[in-house]
Amino acid sequence: MQPFTFLALLVYANSALAAVIFPNITDIRDVPYTPISPRDATALSADAFAAIIPFANFACAAYCPSDTVATWECGAPCSALPGFEVTLTGGDGAGTQLFYVGYWPEKSAVVVAHQGTDPKKLIADLTDLNLFMQGFNNTLFPGMTSGAEGHGGFLEQYSSTTSTISSEVNRLISSKGATSVIATGHSLGGALAELDSLSYSLTLPSSIQVKGVTFGTPRVGNGQYAAFFDSHVSDFQRINNMKDPVPIIPGRFLGFSHVRGEIHIVDAESAVACSGDDDDFDDSCTIKTVPNIFESAVGDHSGPYNGVMIGSSCCV
Ligand SMILES: *[C@@H]1O[C@H](CO)[C@@H](O)[C@H](O)[C@H]1NC(C)=O
Ligand SMILES: *[C@@H]1O[C@H](CO)[C@@H](O)[C@H](O)[C@H]1NC(C)=O
Repeated sequence: MQPFTFLALLVYANSALAAVIFPNITDIRDVPYTPISPRDATALSADAFAAIIPFANFACAAYCPSDTVATWECGAPCSALPGFEVTLTGGDGAGTQLFYVGYWPEKSAVVVAHQGTDPKKLIADLTDLNLFMQGFNNTLFPGMTSGAEGHGGFLEQYSSTTSTISSEVNRLISSKGATSVIATGHSLGGALAELDSLSYSLTLPSSIQVKGVTFGTPRVGNGQYAAFFDSHVSDFQRINNMKDPVPIIPGRFLGFSHVRGEIHIVDAESAVACSGDDDDFDDSCTIKTVPNIFESAVGDHSGPYNGVMIGSSCCV
């Protein structure tokens, strides 16, 4: 076993033991960083911050039972988006995350939303050193850079539902004359929506605008993946709340890297837009606010995302 792997194993598998063996363990950051350029975090305007609310509600509704989503009577998130027409629901909420697809007349948009998962389970899975990376399917991600790899579990989960979802997306584009496709999700669902954003950007006609808005998303792939994503997806926001640990896993030391588009919520009322990838040092962005999982707050994973709490409590 390499020394670094051993160290990481201690850090992530047994923090108490690690603290005894390495009293300064919390000095060990998520990554050995190489800052590329100074990053400017700019305050998000009140309008731009308010604009995330509908997407937070779509991501929230993805946690609700399919029968209540199908009739758009899932409680608060459904009531917040009147007139939305769901045309497909799926997944089982166990092995396969719940999802839904529908049409949003107000924006002439097809919306795809994916359910997330329990953050404690996600943290356990994503800090498991047995996590594996794999290459991207060229049919779903045509032209992907060689060397690009993603988290194997996410890619498997993605490929288990994507053909059903994309048939419905294409059907709605034709039948409704939709002009855009929006992918959203929270947590693991955010990772799936990130993959949707890339796949649709690569495969849908260029007349269809693709937008992705995700919440509390873990890292999905390696640096080659992130660079390819950044050059092919033009409208993407990755929203992180305060000291949520999920956006810093899997660690950069395992070869993972975030795509661009971070919005970091700094408190209940304000957020900043963080330019660049997640390898810079800006004080108000996630990478410095959450230097490692011991200096995080798992409760921040659920929100509030400008007033919207996202998780299994969405549907009551
Ligand atoms: C812990 O870190 C402090 C300051 O960085 C240093 O002075 C101290 O020697 C370190 N302790 C150990 C056991 O390495
Ligand atoms: C790639 O994705 C396509 C479309 O979903 C599927 O038919 C094909 O089997 C996948 N290829 C591999 C190697 O998994």
